[in-house]
Amino acid sequence: MTSKLYHIGFGVNDLQGTGVSVALLSGDPDRARLIAERYLHNVVRLSENRGLNSYLGFLQNGRPVLSATSGMGAPSLSIVVNELVQVGIRTIIRVGTCGSIQAHIPPGDVVISSAALCRQGAALDIAPVEYPAAADPFLTVALARAARKLGVPHHVGITASVDTFYEGQERSDSANPHLLRWLRGITEEYRQLNILNYEMESGTLFKMGGVYGFAAGCICGVIAQRTASENVVLEAKSIAVDRAIAVAVQTLLDEPAGAT
Ligand code: URA
Repeated sequence: MTSKLYHIGFGVNDLQGTGVSVALLSGDPDRARLIAERYLHNVVRLSENRGLNSYLGFLQNGRPVLSATSGMGAPSLSIVVNELVQVGIRTIIRVGTCGSIQAHIPPGDVVISSAALCRQGAALDIAPVEYPAAADPFLTVALARAARKLGVPHHVGITASVDTFYEGQERSDSANPHLLRWLRGITEEYRQLNILNYEMESGTLFKMGGVYGFAAGCICGVIAQRTASENVVLEAKSIAVDRAIAVAVQTLLDEPAGAT
């Protein structure tokens, strides 16, 4: 294997023999840095190549953890995840943001995805469309247990994981004047199907977990309430993200290495 993977900008040799096998994967490079600064010790900046910031550090119990960046959407995530697995990562928790499509899930809460309705092109290059986009069940339960322990308002269920933030999530207040017919009404249909939220990465992550054989989980802070509005509720963002991060970190603290 080449010493540095092309996109993530680091390789096994940069991991200093830590045997790190767990990654917290944020869409936003600033969130990856925040996780490292706030929760990890002895942090090493592995790379900030292409905005795919990656940091290696240690939890308070000494467990090595990577805080990495997927970028936005499934194509970018698929590249990063492939390279993370090449350097030895075997558990990936996506720590993201999402829009609720259920009235009882307000901004500020977190959603833990048990599975995804995967409407993503990148996933079609990895597995057939019918292939289940299922989170690792043990990791999902561990995330829910950690959320309960921290008193974080959380919801466990199915996520709609789609390729676009605007059209695919039925946003009509955008630069595109024409929302395709098949997308009009889709949010209400998903709501009736008991889908909890929209986001843009978990479906492909879960399918990759199944195909490659690693444990994938996803927790997202709710930053939009789509039963009320198309807009992001900026005031809720920091609490939602802080909660999602805290739960993901607690999960790694509570679960013995190997279980996660
Ligand atoms: N991320 C999404 O994909 N959708 C939202 O509404 C908010 C965050």
